[in-house]
Amino acid sequence: MKIAVLPGDGIGTEIVAEAVKVLNVLDLKLETETALVGGAAFDALGHPLPDSTLKLAQEADAILFGAVGDWKYDTLDRPLRPEQAILGLRKNLGLFANFRPAICYEQLVGASSLKPELISGLDILIIRELTGDIYFGQPRGRRVATDGHFPGAEEAFDTMRYSKPEIERIAHVAFQAARKRKSSGSEGRVTSVDKANVLETFQFWKDVVSEVGKEYPDIALDHMYVDNAAMQLVKEPKRFDVVVTGNMFGDILSDEASMLTGSIGMLPSASLNAKNQGLYEPSHGSAPDIAGQGVANPLATILSAAMMLRFSLNQAAAADRIEAAVKAVLAQGLRTPDIYSAGTTRVGTSQMGDAVVKALA
Ligand code: IPM
Ligand code: MG
Repeated sequence: MKIAVLPGDGIGTEIVAEAVKVLNVLDLKLETETALVGGAAFDALGHPLPDSTLKLAQEADAILFGAVGDWKYDTLDRPLRPEQAILGLRKNLGLFANFRPAICYEQLVGASSLKPELISGLDILIIRELTGDIYFGQPRGRRVATDGHFPGAEEAFDTMRYSKPEIERIAHVAFQAARKRKSSGSEGRVTSVDKANVLETFQFWKDVVSEVGKEYPDIALDHMYVDNAAMQLVKEPKRFDVVVTGNMFGDILSDEASMLTGSIGMLPSASLNAKNQGLYEPSHGSAPDIAGQGVANPLATILSAAMMLRFSLNQAAAADRIEAAVKAVLAQGLRTPDIYSAGTTRVGTSQMGDAVVKALA
């Protein structure tokens, strides 16, 4: 099993190192190969997603990704910015289905900004469509050339667009995920989030999801406008089971949902294509403000490695072991600064990784 390891920028290198440490003690036949991506690749090779990195990713069974981006690249032409690396990987590999679970660990209930009773036991899954929508429409503006020249500063736009097959396939992913969760005790509900009251794209989204829903009579389907969904997520988060939405709304709502659990530093994600090849990354970004200090929380990346073992490498038992080890270190009271609270033990990035390794043994 071949894993492409793409640490990227900022805290990416620090947190990916800990996840690789954990994978290495599992005694699985894993082959890892590391490559540059994002700003690091731009600096060294002149492009955020060099051909060699893309090829490595395409040929791997799975990709373990850190994070990309830094303010110092903000003035680059858009195609050269670090974010284009992750967008390019998603598009080139067809990684249309993004799973962003938001699970509240009991020991971290106090780390959330919401009242404990609102989030205790929270276990929701956001499924974000990842290769369509306004992210991959037609852009025009100061940093994207059209017809070979950069337009003036008078206006800028991006087009929002979804095709029927794109909506159908992500809807199937959501209903199937809800069905699977139902078999282990969840409610069996899909909430499709749209903006059908204003946007034609999302009226279409709503209609297509409803149509697909007829094939899943065992799963409840409701529709919610995105502004209301943003409100409901902080008002009554446990009303949700599986949330399915487009690329843009999913980007925003998944950050919001992650904070319900105490820290975005805890949340893994998986992005899958039709062949179950996947890219696994923490839900958070490169956090340049804390990069290089050894304080970033590696648990989201370690948990992403667990998702990788389960979804792409058929190693569910090893994934269970990692997740149990993470729970064990939390029970020991170890906390990186983002999840620290009085009475617990503050640790750094590599100490946290070492503790997970120890708990595995
Ligand atoms: C995410 C990130 C990316 C996105 C950025 C880095 C392009 O915010 O994975 O949520 O917007 O999809
Ligand atoms: Mg985001």
